[in-house]
Amino acid sequence: MINSAYTPPLDLIRRPRRNRQTAAIRALVRENRVHADDLIQPLFVKDGVGAPEPVGSMPDVQRLNVRSLLAEVAHLSALGIRAIALFPQIDSALKDPRGKYALAKKNWFFGLIHQVKTEFPDMLIVADVALDPYTDHGHDGVLDATTGDVANDETVHVLCQYSTHLAEAGADIVAPSDMMDGRIGAIRDELDHEGFTQTSILAYAAKFASAYYGPFRDAVGSTTGSKSPLDKRTYQLDPANLREALLETRLDEDQGADILMIKPAGLYLDVISAVRASTTLPVSAYQVSGEYAQIHAAARAGWLDLAKARDESLLAIKRAGADIILTYFARDVAQSLKG
Ligand code: PBG
Repeated sequence: MINSAYTPPLDLIRRPRRNRQTAAIRALVRENRVHADDLIQPLFVKDGVGAPEPVGSMPDVQRLNVRSLLAEVAHLSALGIRAIALFPQIDSALKDPRGKYALAKKNWFFGLIHQVKTEFPDMLIVADVALDPYTDHGHDGVLDATTGDVANDETVHVLCQYSTHLAEAGADIVAPSDMMDGRIGAIRDELDHEGFTQTSILAYAAKFASAYYGPFRDAVGSTTGSKSPLDKRTYQLDPANLREALLETRLDEDQGADILMIKPAGLYLDVISAVRASTTLPVSAYQVSGEYAQIHAAARAGWLDLAKARDESLLAIKRAGADIILTYFARDVAQSLKG
């Protein structure tokens, strides 16, 4: 017979559970926290005065017109979010194979940036630099006439001009997301040459050819309408490669990037951690549309708790070594941090 009335204590010097027994002690020993200061809210914007349009594959995300964008920025700012990343949805009538509208003086996106900056001078504006919102084929650059592949140097040339237009409109940070070779150095030169020495470059340094960008492509309308997803493997990184990611981040650092980014985030925690160990620059990570959609979908099915899964996903990204996180959850997280 086992006497269950008395169990003599195990002879243990270390009882890690002592540090977990109450909420207060757990808070005291907590190693990582997500703070509103760390977060960048990506926002989709469109021209005109039409009502905000929901993005089907991204619950609670909408394409905003200028007026609703300004209201959203006021709201975010009140919640303590200090940076937004803007992505334009360009009307398909304005798209062409070369993405010429990107450099058009009358591109409404420049006016919109200017308006946000004027009304909210303290809100940091991150502007994506790539041609995919503007090209009718949805690739991030212009295509080589013979190979059909994205032409590197020609694309860089266009992106340099686009970057100065964005800086001139009021973007504080330009974020090349195109993965062309040599674009960080070329953009830095062009910005400096045009007098924008204080415009920062957030380099999408290690951007993988991921299946998780699908909902984003719906949101900006860069899908071509064909069933098969766009293949960007000649410029975005192979998901199998960690060393190559370190090469890319080193090149971007050497060419003058102010902040290095890894993208996607949750599936690439090892890359975040390796990049963190290899640089003294701030490291950011982009929790992409597919990561967001996945958590929402499971929560909708009643399979995951939305807020808990959201918070855990972001904490993991911080723990891996990201200082900064771009996430569609930024607003909700800031809201819940406020209590
Ligand atoms: C475009 C760009 C993409 C994303 C950010 N900038 C899509 C792509 O490369 O096809 C993805 C963001 C997301 O999925 O949330 N260069």
